[in-house]
Amino acid sequence: MTNKVATLNLGDQQVELPVISGTVGPDVLDIRKLYGQTDCFTFDPGFTSTASCESQLTYIDGDQGVLLHRGYSIEELSEQSSFMEVSYLLLNGELPSKQELSDFSYTISRHTMLHEQLSTFYRGFRRDAHPMAIMCGVVGALSAFYHDSTDIADPVQRKIASHRLIAKMPTIAAMAYKYSVGQPFIYPDNKLSYTGNFLRMTFGVPAEEYEVIPAVEKALDRIFILHADHEQNASTSTVRLAGSSGANPFACIAAGIACLWGPAHGGANEAALNMLREIGTPDKIPHYIARAKDKNDPFRLMGFGHRVYKNYDPRATVMQKTVREVLAALKVNDPIFEVAMQLEEMALNDPYFIEKKLFPNVDFYSGIILSAIGFPTTMFTVLFALARTVGWVAQWNEMISDPGQKIGRPRQLYTGPTARTYLPVEKR
Ligand code: CMC
Repeated sequence: MTNKVATLNLGDQQVELPVISGTVGPDVLDIRKLYGQTDCFTFDPGFTSTASCESQLTYIDGDQGVLLHRGYSIEELSEQSSFMEVSYLLLNGELPSKQELSDFSYTISRHTMLHEQLSTFYRGFRRDAHPMAIMCGVVGALSAFYHDSTDIADPVQRKIASHRLIAKMPTIAAMAYKYSVGQPFIYPDNKLSYTGNFLRMTFGVPAEEYEVIPAVEKALDRIFILHADHEQNASTSTVRLAGSSGANPFACIAAGIACLWGPAHGGANEAALNMLREIGTPDKIPHYIARAKDKNDPFRLMGFGHRVYKNYDPRATVMQKTVREVLAALKVNDPIFEVAMQLEEMALNDPYFIEKKLFPNVDFYSGIILSAIGFPTTMFTVLFALARTVGWVAQWNEMISDPGQKIGRPRQLYTGPTARTYLPVEKR
């Protein structure tokens, strides 16, 4: 809280609104008592000017293109850290010591298996089901399998549920993939790293030894770091809202997955690669740029623009570097990368994109890497969900541990009919 107040003049009434400052970032007006004092709500559909909670996890400065987790920059974390280390940081607030990291990784690796009966659950889905549909269903079903970690009032159960979700997500995601291609499920191998294990469960087969390629493991681990958390985005807000009613963590994360699936959110990486493939060759780029600018055409450049970043998304910079590394390591010469680079350059020099501050976001380059590794486009959002689970879980824990936590209950501006008399059907 600062000593600053904002004064709101509402007809004859004058209301003082306290101004609260965080450690960094814009101040917020505290309007919690506004309705009680004035009989007036605020109106902010899409939450463009609303802080929905207090949080110590992630800070974004969208104008400067800054992303920090617990104070550490995404550039440093993605360069020097591992996904397990970032997960520990998000959950616990500090970077782990060597021993803490080893204990944490060990704990996570001991939760990687799924209840065996869950594998029969998969067989209820059509083979051509989208893996995100399977993820929503299977993650929601976890609450039917792990009753001993659904009491949200018990911090020990919350911790176990958090570890289970982070540990089981790669197994669930890999099984969704295996089911779609008709191959046997591969059990986890705890000798491998979190990411190496996921690669083996996805691409390994029981008939052969699977060898994890270190450059691929490193690149995918970095992609997981880049997606680990991102403040109060749509899916995280969904997890918080679902959790605010006291719903169990598995149900809350399933809600987050459902929200993430949308093409304006996590589904954009799949849409971005599909778009680059559709463009196909650099000579077609001007046509697609013109379409993106045309108000009468619903087409948008996928992987471009962001609600918060009005500058280069720092994750896109790391992602672009990673594309080069992966394509070189796998000796893949994907012409789509050239299309992406030229599209980016052309858009960044176009007055429409300059004026609207539209820059590449995290999804613009990630699809090229994932495709080179061998993931089909339908798996892209699944990988996003896998990595974001740690952010969801950390945000959910932060909310539940807050003693002042309340059920989320927005209000509305009602524009429907006023009270009217019911007419029986024969008189209508
Ligand atoms: N291509 C062309 N025009 C665009 C684009 C785009 N990708 N993005 C925004 N605009 C225009 C939009 O038409 C609007 O123009 P006007 O002011 O003339 O109506 C203006 O820019 C502002 O757009 P908005 O939709 O009001 O902005 P928003 O903050 O509500 O939307 C967004 C942000 C990410 C949904 C949007 O930029 C978009 O649809 N991008 C493409 C999808 C995408 O890449 N999503 C991934 C987001 S990052 C990963 C994640 O967080 O999940």
